[in-house]
Amino acid sequence: MKMNKKALTKLATLFVGVFILGSCSTDPTSPGYEYMPDMYRSPAIEPYVDYGEIRGRINEDVKTKMSALTPPSFAIPYYGKDSAYVQMMLPYRRMPDSTYANVAAFYGWNISKLNEYEMAKADVNPIKLTADNSEATLKKGKELFTAMCQHCHGEKGDGKGPMVVSGAYQGSGIPNYSTLQIAEGQMFYSIYYGKNKMGAHSSQLNKEEIWTLVHYIKRFQDKNYGKFDKDGKSLSIPASGSTPDSLMTNSAAKVGM
Ligand code: HEC
Repeated sequence: MKMNKKALTKLATLFVGVFILGSCSTDPTSPGYEYMPDMYRSPAIEPYVDYGEIRGRINEDVKTKMSALTPPSFAIPYYGKDSAYVQMMLPYRRMPDSTYANVAAFYGWNISKLNEYEMAKADVNPIKLTADNSEATLKKGKELFTAMCQHCHGEKGDGKGPMVVSGAYQGSGIPNYSTLQIAEGQMFYSIYYGKNKMGAHSSQLNKEEIWTLVHYIKRFQDKNYGKFDKDGKSLSIPASGSTPDSLMTNSAAKVGM
């Protein structure tokens, strides 16, 4: 019994010794083996760290990528080679006006003295629905709507989203899309800058996504919107939804959306 205890103590000492010595390294700059390195080093992504090389392991895929560099002010993102697409994705030329200055997150913005919302009536959706792209565009619109808008506006666009029905959202005046009498450019403007109790979505959705949503909203206003007959002719009457035809021919409105 006594022998056993002694042997056990020896064994334990040996084990601890090997354990401690084993963590040493001949490299004087090395801290040796680290048990549970995550406890010492933050696994979070840190700015200004070259993740292309971590402890001698090279990851070529991220070697040349910059981390956390903010583009200079007024830098314009450039999208692809298609000039119409680049044009659509250029910064929105309309400024928020005084109506929207009260919506959250406008501190420090340039507020226009003009009635920009009224002027937005002339803006035409740069994404044209055709027999080829309509289905995919409206499908994408539905996805975006389900993720970003439906909880307030409701699956049917009637303003009775689950947050409204449950009473969690106290906002009033959510319109029923089917009776909403505004031009598509104004829809864009309100989604982009927000309106009263609806927050701005410009930081969450890009312009292509917002114009896609505008198409989707118009489907609630006209069940034939975005449907085409065999010859590729639109079944929607009027084809431009709530936008008066006179505005559709305003070519000045088509540039610089
Ligand atoms: C937090 C709830 C909420 C969310 C989320 C929300 N909305 Fe709204 N929305 C409102 C309210 C409230 C109004 C009524 C604003 C008013 O006229 O006072 C409104 C109005 C609108 C209008 C009419 C604007 C006008 O100029 O009359 C459109 C179009 C619209 N929303 C689209 C969207 C889209 C698209 C999304 C998703 C990207 C969205 N909304 C997300 C609450 C919301």
